[in-house]
Amino acid sequence: MSTTGDSQSEATVDTVLECPAPRFSGQEAEAIAQQAFAIHASAAPLASERDQNFRLRANDGSDWVLKIANPAENPALLDMQTRALLHIAQVDPELGIPRVKATPDGALFHEIEGPDQRLCIVRVLSFLPGQLLKDAALHPALARDVGTMTARLARALSGFFHPAARHELLWDLTQAAGLRKRTQHIQDSECRHMVEQVLNHLDAQVLPRLKRLRAQVIHNDVSCMNTLVDDQGVSGVIDFGDLIHAPLVCDLAVPISELMGEHPDPIAIATEITAGYHAVTPLEDEELRLISDLVATRCAMAIAVANWRVCDHPENSAYIMGGVEENQTLLAQMQEWGGKRMYTALRRACASSISMAVTDFARGTSAEANLQSLLERRRQRLGPELELFYDKPVHVVRGEGVWLIDAAGRSLLDAYNNVPSVGHCHPRVVQALARQAATLNTNTRYVYESVIEYADRLTATMPGDLSICMFVCSGSEANDLAWRLAKAHTGNAGGIVMEDAYHGTTDAVYDLSPAEYGIERGRELAKHIATVPAPDGYRGIFREDHADHADQYARCLDEAIASLDSRGFAPAAFYLDLILASNGVMVPPPGYLATAFDKVRAAGGLCVADEVQSGFGRTGDHFWGFQAHDVVPDIVTLGKPIGNGLSMAAVITTPAIVASLMKECDFFSTTGGNPVACAVGLAVLDVLEEEKLQARAARVGHQLRSQIETLAQRHSLIGDVRGAGLFIGVELVRDRSTLEPATQETAAVANRMRELGVLVGIDGPHSNVLKIRPPLVFDENHALQLTDVLDQALREI
Ligand SMILES: Cc1ncc(COP(=O)(O)O)c(C=O)c1O
Repeated sequence: MSTTGDSQSEATVDTVLECPAPRFSGQEAEAIAQQAFAIHASAAPLASERDQNFRLRANDGSDWVLKIANPAENPALLDMQTRALLHIAQVDPELGIPRVKATPDGALFHEIEGPDQRLCIVRVLSFLPGQLLKDAALHPALARDVGTMTARLARALSGFFHPAARHELLWDLTQAAGLRKRTQHIQDSECRHMVEQVLNHLDAQVLPRLKRLRAQVIHNDVSCMNTLVDDQGVSGVIDFGDLIHAPLVCDLAVPISELMGEHPDPIAIATEITAGYHAVTPLEDEELRLISDLVATRCAMAIAVANWRVCDHPENSAYIMGGVEENQTLLAQMQEWGGKRMYTALRRACASSISMAVTDFARGTSAEANLQSLLERRRQRLGPELELFYDKPVHVVRGEGVWLIDAAGRSLLDAYNNVPSVGHCHPRVVQALARQAATLNTNTRYVYESVIEYADRLTATMPGDLSICMFVCSGSEANDLAWRLAKAHTGNAGGIVMEDAYHGTTDAVYDLSPAEYGIERGRELAKHIATVPAPDGYRGIFREDHADHADQYARCLDEAIASLDSRGFAPAAFYLDLILASNGVMVPPPGYLATAFDKVRAAGGLCVADEVQSGFGRTGDHFWGFQAHDVVPDIVTLGKPIGNGLSMAAVITTPAIVASLMKECDFFSTTGGNPVACAVGLAVLDVLEEEKLQARAARVGHQLRSQIETLAQRHSLIGDVRGAGLFIGVELVRDRSTLEPATQETAAVANRMRELGVLVGIDGPHSNVLKIRPPLVFDENHALQLTDVLDQALREI
């Protein structure tokens, strides 16, 4: 650590720091190099506070550093440093670290008596060329490189151990609380208070959590003074004097704390370093959560140590107090932000950085050959008809945030999957799932808190009397149960749905799903079902340039009710998908729902809001799609994003409606609402709230839509851009006046985008609508990437 120039154990720090450095002349150094290490060189002194180092430029052109250790130095620590260097050179030979030079008879150390009769250990290491990071202009790519280097170094050290590894060290973050006895030296009382607060917090909150994290021998000082750069980026790391066995994440906190203060956007620098690290060694969620505290601790340590050391060495004040002001400013800033802000930024950065470990592994397998064999086995076991996306199917091996990683190690921007709505494999959700699965999983016939808490949380988002939750396992099941509830409550048996609706796959709900019903294969809808046209203002029977097109569409409900009546049915329920996904993605026009609901209720039916696609904040301005229309449904069905991919779903309705069904029969779902599902559901709600994903859906969705609208000025194929939040439909037409659907072109665009690394879907009755509904962690940069790729695909098809 540069503030004191050296590192050392707390127990011996006073001794080593106070024990004068060895005092050999340049000529003596040259003689040692020649006699002990057979290096014929000229020696030039290098700076060191407590040791003595010489750069040796050898006659044969080689470049070395002769290191004469302080006589008070613990030989076991020198042994550890040397053996760590040898270990790294063996496991990651490409890594830029000093190489150990042995004596001609193979000894790693040489002992020499100084002019003052004290014995010193001498070592020779190779001299690493390059500029110190502290003298380089810091930019995000360089910061990322620092993270990558830190991770590679730690990875190379992961199999290394030494009996001296768990020693006392002044710069060990886990031992920082010991600095409390030094804080009296901090003159500025406000600063002293801040440092003490950090150390107290470390003791009470951070250390207990650190104890549960993975630990190993780490470098612990990848700082500006120890990192070398060249024009390619980070080229090496020197000074292994702070090696220690400690939680892995402590290693990362060092460069972050050092570099954050060096850039006008400290969080951006922290995220770059973290993303670079994560790409080599994926960080655990708890590690990410603790980084902010560890960075604050490192700043507090630097302030405390400098203020203490300067008391003994006022003559060296400029050097010792060098970084104190920056540390103080950063610490104050971090306290203002709170830990959450940094965690959220780091987590997001990690979500978009792809693990090299996985990609390296995946590249090792022959991806294409493997895919062909999988496709064949899939045909045999799942049937040849089971649909696959894209002409060139995607073989996925991993998901992370907005990314899907294929078997060749390529990361694809996922702009299609709304189910992992808080991001693929969100660590919080995964952890909740794993923890609960390892604790208890049972069913709702037993008492457990989480199902009640979860029902509380869900119903708290609902208006009116929608206060009872019934938990099931899929959107289809939820709509099936809604159908039974509606029939029991109304005593009717008719259903009304949109012409191209899709509500699921059970026998009852298939009747309510003309989109998949097989009408094009000659199947007729069931007698108890009537359809209404989707309120499509772009290509539907009533266009949005008609002022009352909402009413015109709502009046279609009268015809549907009359049609049912003519067949001997009254409506039990009117089902509506609030984003009309299978109709081509659209938001019903203002006023439509209120009028339509009135008509259905007047005919004795219930109104079912199917939020399986639109729910959980996706539409941006509201948590539920129906809330944009100022109506209260009788039944709301939830699915897909509810469990971020776990099979879960729910029906939320009124006590009176539930009571009607219970008069007829019981309700029980073996796995619906089980403790694992509830833990996951609660974690999803937490993440949505904490990461403000609904607001992000509104913001990024708005940006994305306007970018695509701008593209429409160049690409006449784009007929309409619509949707809400991060659920967007882009309708492609061959002719903007006839609206001839560009069905083949839509498929070609989606396939080309897939090749270019962006996944979107296709929907709508004419299969000419690009369906864009990414995980909600999709951000502005992802939106730009998608727009660029869409632009390119439209140019190329
Ligand atoms: C609007 C809507 N409702 C219900 C479902 C059925 O959900 P699941 O596939 O989970 O049964 C779907 C599925 O795509 C859907 O889009």
